[in-house]
Amino acid sequence: MMTGIWILLLVLASVGCTQAGEGTDRATTVLVFKHGKLSGDGRVLSELLREFEQRHPSVIVREELLPADSDRQHQYYAMNLDGGKAPFDLLGIDTIWAQEFAKAGWIAPLDEILTPAEREDFFPGPIEAATFQGRLHAVPWYVDAGVLYYRRDLLDRHGFEPPRTWLELVRIAKLVLDAEQDSKLAGFVWQGKQYEGLMCVALEVLRSNGTDLWVGDRDRAEYGLRFLRETIATHGITPLSTSMADEESTRWMFGEGHALFMRNWPYAWSLLQQEGSPVRGKVGVVPLPAFSGFTSAPVLGGWMLAMPNSSTHQEVVGELISFLTSPDTQRRIAMELGYNPVRRALYTDQSLLELRPLLKDLYPILLGAKPRPVTPYYLLLSQAVQPEISAVVVGRKSPKEALDVIRRRVDQIMGEQISTTERH
Ligand code: GLC
Repeated sequence: MMTGIWILLLVLASVGCTQAGEGTDRATTVLVFKHGKLSGDGRVLSELLREFEQRHPSVIVREELLPADSDRQHQYYAMNLDGGKAPFDLLGIDTIWAQEFAKAGWIAPLDEILTPAEREDFFPGPIEAATFQGRLHAVPWYVDAGVLYYRRDLLDRHGFEPPRTWLELVRIAKLVLDAEQDSKLAGFVWQGKQYEGLMCVALEVLRSNGTDLWVGDRDRAEYGLRFLRETIATHGITPLSTSMADEESTRWMFGEGHALFMRNWPYAWSLLQQEGSPVRGKVGVVPLPAFSGFTSAPVLGGWMLAMPNSSTHQEVVGELISFLTSPDTQRRIAMELGYNPVRRALYTDQSLLELRPLLKDLYPILLGAKPRPVTPYYLLLSQAVQPEISAVVVGRKSPKEALDVIRRRVDQIMGEQISTTERH
């Protein structure tokens, strides 16, 4: 019995990814598509892949999911791409990894899939992030920028407009919490766990105070970090649990009606609006606040599609990337999953805007969002900085101590790597 199973496994393994199609003499190509779990209805992407298969009868696309957490996905990819024999043909990558993966020679150039003329319609930030030494190494799939969600019903009830400055946010949150006397209601939730999401929040707060984490005015940087800590420790508008929170846990909390303000990416919108959601029809979205005298500074995020250099099915993977990033697929992903298209023409597409009117407000926010440093060393840098910010958030280090370490470490890591343009 055991021997039989082993023989079967050996036969399957030797057939590898190209199998003889049953009942036909055509070879069947199996493509493995690895990507992080998308929020919302997973069937949407599966249906799209079945559609691709119908158009390519000799191809089967097998989805393999990774956890949504960006850092955990990075760890998996770095391990599996490093040997030169990745067990997948297509991968979803965070916008911050393209430089690193391209420099390491892990992902193939994709210039033919998206010609320079076609790139014109894409948001420029993601295209820049995907271009390494003049060659496109990934095709942007959807684009993200940090935004502020607020409970419109609660602000209306207490006569407030959404805040434009961080201090206004604090003031409004305190007044609404006092007036509501609802022990379950938090004022402001954000992503405070030690991971990439926290980097984004810290960058948004510091940049909206006219500085940055590793460069720029020291006092204003300390002030920004202190602000994050104080939302928890001094103002009492942010629950301590935020120091463990990621996108999904904050989305759940806000979605259950337990928060007045939330920093998150735009994907949360359609989930908050879906049937049965306790906050359906009660939510608004505005640009993130800034400190007075400065402007809102959302971080540019988003995901791309890339192909390992080792894939033996480069041509058909290229077709799959074109299909998944085509205007039609982008429209469907935006309508059915609420992810923001990377193609700008879709932001004036009436049929899409009717269903997703928010896209109109998001357009300028996405266009103005500021990238994290576009460098192959970004992850090194982020991983050195994350524990320091986290230590401030939980009150283990002062902003001054943390910034001392951050600036010293980043200088060590980057040396001359962060070019002058990236510094500004
Ligand atoms: C979102 C963004 C991504 C960012 C991540 C951080 O997925 O699209 O760019 O790195 O959040 O948690």
